[in-house]
Amino acid sequence: MDYNNLLNKIKEYRKKAEKFNPEKPEQIEEFRILFLGRKGILNELFSEFKKISPEGKKETGRLLNELKLYVSKKIERLKNEKEELKTDHKTYTDLTLPSSHIKLGSRHPISIVRNEIIEIFSRLGFYVSEGPEIEDDWHVFSALNFPEEHPARDMQDTFFLEQNPDILLRTHTSSVQVRVMETEKPPLRTISPGRVFRSEAISARSHCIFHQVEGLYIDKNVSFSDLKQTLIYFAREMFGKDTEIRLRPSFFPFTEPSGELDISCNCRGKGCNLCKYTGWLEILGCGMVDPNVLSSCGIDNEIFTGFAFGMGIERIALLKYNIKDIRLYFENDIRFIKQFTSAY
Ligand code: PHE
Repeated sequence: MDYNNLLNKIKEYRKKAEKFNPEKPEQIEEFRILFLGRKGILNELFSEFKKISPEGKKETGRLLNELKLYVSKKIERLKNEKEELKTDHKTYTDLTLPSSHIKLGSRHPISIVRNEIIEIFSRLGFYVSEGPEIEDDWHVFSALNFPEEHPARDMQDTFFLEQNPDILLRTHTSSVQVRVMETEKPPLRTISPGRVFRSEAISARSHCIFHQVEGLYIDKNVSFSDLKQTLIYFAREMFGKDTEIRLRPSFFPFTEPSGELDISCNCRGKGCNLCKYTGWLEILGCGMVDPNVLSSCGIDNEIFTGFAFGMGIERIALLKYNIKDIRLYFENDIRFIKQFTSAY
């Protein structure tokens, strides 16, 4: 075969390859065998190519290689399109079908309880304020009347920064009290939910990370009975209208007098492993803000008085939902979290 003949043949096959437009997926494979098979068009053309005179080789060689490349690429593209066709939603979407069901998630019990606490106190006019988790000694201890040698300042009790022991992870949300008193003028009525940290060995009853909600009320003539009434209201809203409260004397450096609040257990002392037959469950620490704290924060303690309280969210959730192990809160096991549904 002479050079011109071969050239025409190549051009003809090129046109044929370009025109190929399969109607059925099987035709792609037939097309591949036709062109690229062992006895296919390209092998035939290449063997003819060997026979032609050297002058014609340059152009025919180029066209032949181009044809081979074109065919291979076209097959590849067609095969990909075929795959897409299989999964192409357009082909399968039936717009008249009902939409697929999206499962609703649920909130973490800590979020549910935190939101509920915020909701209850907002009804009493408390607004939410927040502070940093990485704090300094002043806001966590000094401004709150902690003496220099207080054990809470010990390295074992909390997480300090090695390079700068003035910086630490807050051990309670009482630091936010200080920030609010330093920056805002009384009357103040605020709650501060947030995460706190203590260097604790992790067990069923304690964790190195947990959550608190702090409350602070500063105004003229705020008295201990205001504190008590606020706490009764909270306990009954949170745990039910028949809940009784009990205040036990306690000590915190930043409140005077200080107390701890217990709520009545549902077993009423008949016996359960939650209250250990005492009939009471401890839920928070509280007290009248120490006059020293007020003056440290720039508030005139001759004019203003106030109360503060702080509760652990994990503990409230534990009592509300009868959760046995505090570690469950942090494991993120969906089977645990899924059990909680709430409007909050
Ligand atoms: N900050 C205290 C604690 O973490 C709780 C508390 C807050 C006590 C406010 C009194 C007043 O234990």
